[in-house]
Amino acid sequence: MSRLSIHKLKEWKAQGRRFAMVTAYDYPTARLAEQAGIPIILVGDSVGSVVLGYGSTIPVTMEEMLHHTKAVVRGTERAIIVADMPFMSYQASPDEAMANAGRLLKEGGATAVKLEGGSHIVPLVRRMVECGIPVMGHLGLTPQSINQLGGHKVQGKTPAAAAKLIADARALEEAGAFAVVLETIPAPLAKMVTERLTIPTIGIGAGPHCDGQVQVLHDILGIYDDQRVLKHAKRYAVLGAAIRDALRQYAAEVEAGTFPTAEHSFEMDEATLRELASV
Ligand code: KIV
Repeated sequence: MSRLSIHKLKEWKAQGRRFAMVTAYDYPTARLAEQAGIPIILVGDSVGSVVLGYGSTIPVTMEEMLHHTKAVVRGTERAIIVADMPFMSYQASPDEAMANAGRLLKEGGATAVKLEGGSHIVPLVRRMVECGIPVMGHLGLTPQSINQLGGHKVQGKTPAAAAKLIADARALEEAGAFAVVLETIPAPLAKMVTERLTIPTIGIGAGPHCDGQVQVLHDILGIYDDQRVLKHAKRYAVLGAAIRDALRQYAAEVEAGTFPTAEHSFEMDEATLRELASV
């Protein structure tokens, strides 16, 4: 079975067809996302915060991204797999950026890469696309610049910031990006960007007018159910509680001696047992 083409997304936008993207970082969740019919999976560098226990996406390395991308690719056949380029894998030099993007496709098996930033990365995006590397852009709240931005604040609120974001989105489209993520920006601004581009916008905290939506798997599945629900997210399940309850029950049954039973055990034939009696 072949994977969906990135060009489908532009067709869907032209048809007014919306689509969901979700993050996945491992084989089982990628498999589940694909079985749920999700056409595009992001191996986000949010892996740093939601799976690896880092405080942000900044410490995430190329080796970690490759490791997780490979697992997601193994768990899927049809979905487009977008791998995030981690912090400082594309900022230091264009040649290093090209080599790292190439690794995510060649070694990781990703369909495309995602880079954060606007006009300053446009020449790099153009070069990647010319070399056959599909690129997804990412504007608005760009978590790799969290220290520069001074926290998780809504972006593009002033006329100048909003105009820059629109110009950046246009420049990314012109450079050949096949889609652009819009994170934590006012919904009316996301609507304007969506209307001005022919490539799809994919929102997270950017309101209902984007062509697609992306969510972090652990947020929508309620894995961290002891933390508040983020404003831009919605919990479709509370798996944190379900997993904890299941593990408590398992531990209790082991402690009580009610698991395992004969049903979960393997027998030995009588002759072997007789032979072993004298050992
Ligand atoms: O890493 C990630 O999960 C992302 C999404 C928030 C878009 O970049």
